[in-house]
Amino acid sequence: MAQTNLVATYQRIADILRSTQRAAIEFENAPDKRKRLRTFSIQEVASLLAVPHREVTAFLKTIDEKGGSSRTRLTFDEINHLRRELFGRTGNLDLLPWRRPNLSEGLATIVFTNFKGGSAKTTSSVHFAQYLARAGYRVLLIDLDSQGSATAQFGLDPSNEVGIENSFAAWTAAREKGKTIDALSICQRTYWPSIDLVAAGAVLTQAEEALARRSASGQMEPVLYFDELSSFLTATGDIYDVVVVDTRPDVNMLMTIALHAATCLVVPTRATMTDLSSTGEFFAHLASYVGDFEESFGVRLPTQVARIMITAYDPTDRSQEALAGLIRERFGEAILPGEFLHSRIMGTAGFGKETLYEYEPTTDRAAYNRVLASANGVHQAIEAHIREAWGRGPTNEMQHAKAVRA
Ligand SMILES: Nc1ncnc2c1ncn2[C@@H]1O[C@H](COP(=O)(O)OP(=O)(O)OP(=O)(O)O)[C@@H](O)[C@H]1O
Ligand SMILES: [Mg+2]
Repeated sequence: MAQTNLVATYQRIADILRSTQRAAIEFENAPDKRKRLRTFSIQEVASLLAVPHREVTAFLKTIDEKGGSSRTRLTFDEINHLRRELFGRTGNLDLLPWRRPNLSEGLATIVFTNFKGGSAKTTSSVHFAQYLARAGYRVLLIDLDSQGSATAQFGLDPSNEVGIENSFAAWTAAREKGKTIDALSICQRTYWPSIDLVAAGAVLTQAEEALARRSASGQMEPVLYFDELSSFLTATGDIYDVVVVDTRPDVNMLMTIALHAATCLVVPTRATMTDLSSTGEFFAHLASYVGDFEESFGVRLPTQVARIMITAYDPTDRSQEALAGLIRERFGEAILPGEFLHSRIMGTAGFGKETLYEYEPTTDRAAYNRVLASANGVHQAIEAHIREAWGRGPTNEMQHAKAVRA
């Protein structure tokens, strides 16, 4: 086959796949062609805020025009409004857990990484971002994977709706020229009112190349390439509490700069032999990279904790159960307590499908509640690390969960 034919063949396949992805996103997001967040029942809101139902119904009455609301559902914006109101009345930080920079509560950065492909990095990072938003935090999700799966999960098409200007490539391009841009200009709003997104698509290869050029040229001054993400985060100021980063499944420059910004590293892995051996290799890489870096530069990385997270777990599979038991015994606290259960709801996540936190079950609520509780359990353990970094104690709910586990 002549070379030109090969080029045309590849291009045609790429074009078809891109348009199929676009069609899939539009289909999932019909009729608006944009994802929207569902509303939440009074019961859900009461349990989310740990307040009696009457607080929620009273709030609905005050915000509805004639004061006689018969509404039974709230938008996410309304939940946030109620949070602020209840916080104003009670001063209870669990209701509005925003960080307090004046008390040295710094931006917490949680990086989901592993060089094993398909280990649920994207699923975990997107779910964790949404868990945090539901708990009242202000979140920035940074997609550092040129596959753009987290971006697609947020209803954007990585091939057609992500360019340099709304991806991290804008930051690296400017810095390579010795310039800076407004960091917030690349953080876009999403249909989750408390989650902003730095989107990703194939354009991120430009960021990868820019970082590689900087690294190869030995250009350590005036800007150090490995500080690229942390400098960006500093430039976002105080409007976010937690940054969640999704990375690509290999060792690459974007993943490396994420290591240099991580307060907490979460390594999702399935409880299978192949996944665990790959995760073992990943930790060997981390040990050698961090060791070499600290020795060469005399600078410590900011990571305070690194935790393995067992994902897509099927407790009815005897071999998964045995492996999970074994690694828990060996690793102790290096593994987050509990497992994120396997669920069909996430079967085709990544193309606009709903997450657990977006989905509302109409049947088999018990099965849904089990998966949700499993996700909440691991997420709560990561949240506890964030609170620790801020010098805060556990919430009442965390204390309760710990007592139940014990
Ligand atoms: N708890 C779960 N239950 C069921 N399916 C899951 C679960 N977690 C992840 N998956 C599915 O596994 C597949 C891979 O997950 P995901 O895309 O999150 O992995 P990843 O590590 O980000 O992949 P990549 O290495 O390509 O970035 C997806 O189809 C996702 O829907
Ligand atoms: Mg991914």
